[in-house]
Amino acid sequence: MNGRADKSLAVKFECDSDELMKPVSVDTTSESDEETLVSSKDILVSQITSRRSKRFPGRMEVAGSKKPRRNIPDEPLNTSEPELEAERFEGESETEINAREKSGETMVSPGISDPAKWLKFSITQEEVDKLRSKVMAQVTNRNSSGLLYGLDKEQHEVYRLLERTIRDNEGHSILLIGPRASGKTAVVAKSLRSLSLKYPKQFITVKLNGYHQSNDNMALREIARQLDEQLKLGFGIDATDTFEKRGLNDTFQTILDILDNNKQFVASDNEEKTLRTVAVVFIIEEFERFTYHNRQTLLYNLFDLSQNSTTAVSVVGITTKITAREMLEKRVKSRFSQRVIQIANLSTLDEFVSKCQENLMIREVSDLNQQYVALWNEEITRMFQTEISVRKILFQNFYTVKNIKEFLNCAVYPLSRISVASPFPKAGDLGKYFHLLTPNYLQSTVDGLSELETCLLVCAARLIEKLGLDIVNYNLVYEEYTAQIKRLNASTSLSSTTNSSGNMNAGMMLQNHKAWSKDACKYCWERLQAQKLIIDSVSTSVFASGPVAGKLASLGSARLNEDSRMVSVAINLEELGHLIPSSSFIKSMTTL
Ligand SMILES: Nc1ncnc2c1ncn2[C@@H]1O[C@H](COP(=O)(O)OP(=O)(O)O)[C@@H](O)[C@H]1O
Ligand SMILES: [Mg+2]
Repeated sequence: MNGRADKSLAVKFECDSDELMKPVSVDTTSESDEETLVSSKDILVSQITSRRSKRFPGRMEVAGSKKPRRNIPDEPLNTSEPELEAERFEGESETEINAREKSGETMVSPGISDPAKWLKFSITQEEVDKLRSKVMAQVTNRNSSGLLYGLDKEQHEVYRLLERTIRDNEGHSILLIGPRASGKTAVVAKSLRSLSLKYPKQFITVKLNGYHQSNDNMALREIARQLDEQLKLGFGIDATDTFEKRGLNDTFQTILDILDNNKQFVASDNEEKTLRTVAVVFIIEEFERFTYHNRQTLLYNLFDLSQNSTTAVSVVGITTKITAREMLEKRVKSRFSQRVIQIANLSTLDEFVSKCQENLMIREVSDLNQQYVALWNEEITRMFQTEISVRKILFQNFYTVKNIKEFLNCAVYPLSRISVASPFPKAGDLGKYFHLLTPNYLQSTVDGLSELETCLLVCAARLIEKLGLDIVNYNLVYEEYTAQIKRLNASTSLSSTTNSSGNMNAGMMLQNHKAWSKDACKYCWERLQAQKLIIDSVSTSVFASGPVAGKLASLGSARLNEDSRMVSVAINLEELGHLIPSSSFIKSMTTL
């Protein structure tokens, strides 16, 4: 209903999650510990454990069960056992398995505190570095070799259309619509990557972004720059005559001429001595922002090219706005092929987890240490399915923002720390970024308040608690404030020991507290509002006419001016009690 409820929820969640952290130290593979987990009252924990035991019944087996447990180091491991022979790691070929078995090296699952104990193969710093940079590229979206979970259809369609552009010289225009972090860019990047492997040097990609190129002129310059650069680098065309001209009109004209007349776009395909035209693929991120440009000239021209030019030109628009197509002007729209691909955010937790996991796994082993990769994939799988701190981050992300990118950002830190001594990411490190990212907002703002501000905030929260209302106003709070200061001074002047905890703070309590004037306090009140600890309740009139009104009137708020404007408080008294240090004199006000 109001900010207060949300925030208090956040604080509660924080507490819960702290409890959640407790079982982390527990070895999740032994049965007795499993019982501890299940018996825990925390819903989240039981959710996680039940999920885990459902998915991985094998992992829950007690030691001594039929199949040898692989992650117990002192247990003898017989690699020729049929069950184990059948086991292979994803992406591992037959020959790799054979090689592994021949070498007689034991594959022991990680997840043991000291990696040196189970690490029977040696890895070099170089191999670690290679693997790190590979995974890091996946995580930071620089490399598109990872699998895209559940987006095969979309990816195939984009690939097919662009392939037709490159191979068959057809122009196309596509609009890719989907929420943020749903994999739109990844789909396009992956298609382009496969295409550049299949059709090397037969197309040029020009990437624009609505946030970077905020008008058509900037976009044109950027197109010219990218064309210049790629032609020079990729095709060795000596561009003494660059696209980028002094005048924008000239630039535009050159680009159009060249694209249209197909003059320079000839790749030297030496073997066949045939001249192929080079296709141009425009990738336009934040597509809808280009529709704000004056008369949509750029889009008009690009779509026009895609339909009419002799050079194959395709335009791929990427946007989050479902209405992007309707935002096109009529003449622009008529040149658009009307092909729209929608990408939906996957909705189940398992799918979300798979997507996140996919980005940390290695699918192409090309030049890496194969055993390391196999172990890596196994360890990542284990982390995602059994490590409680990882599951916690996944849960929180899924039930709040559902943003893979945020999760992947968390992974950067643990990835950056892998080394020969500890070649796998640590689950504990995963949370570090997360905690930095979402510091306890209330805690840090309350910590930063001055004494008087805290005092007023506590008084406001007191009133809310005392009167059982949702809203208060400044007049009431100031009254409460003076009353509280009076009470404090009275109790200290008595210097009696009525307050049981008073003894310790006696020296401090002796000082008299000054009750500041209403005007002085008003300034602090406004600061609280600026920091959103005090929130304007918009529907004042509703309350003023409701059943509450009578109660308020009796409390002496007749004038409806600034001081009697009703506000709500973003934090409740109990939470303040936790946040305010016990050394402060305000602490005593946090109990009624
Ligand atoms: N279905 C998916 N499977 C695996 N990874 C995904 C999937 N969807 C998104 N991602 C990952 O999420 C990150 C963000 O995706 P991105 O394509 O940049 O989103 P968008 O462009 O839609 O905002 C990328 O690192 C990508 O690899
Ligand atoms: Mg994107």
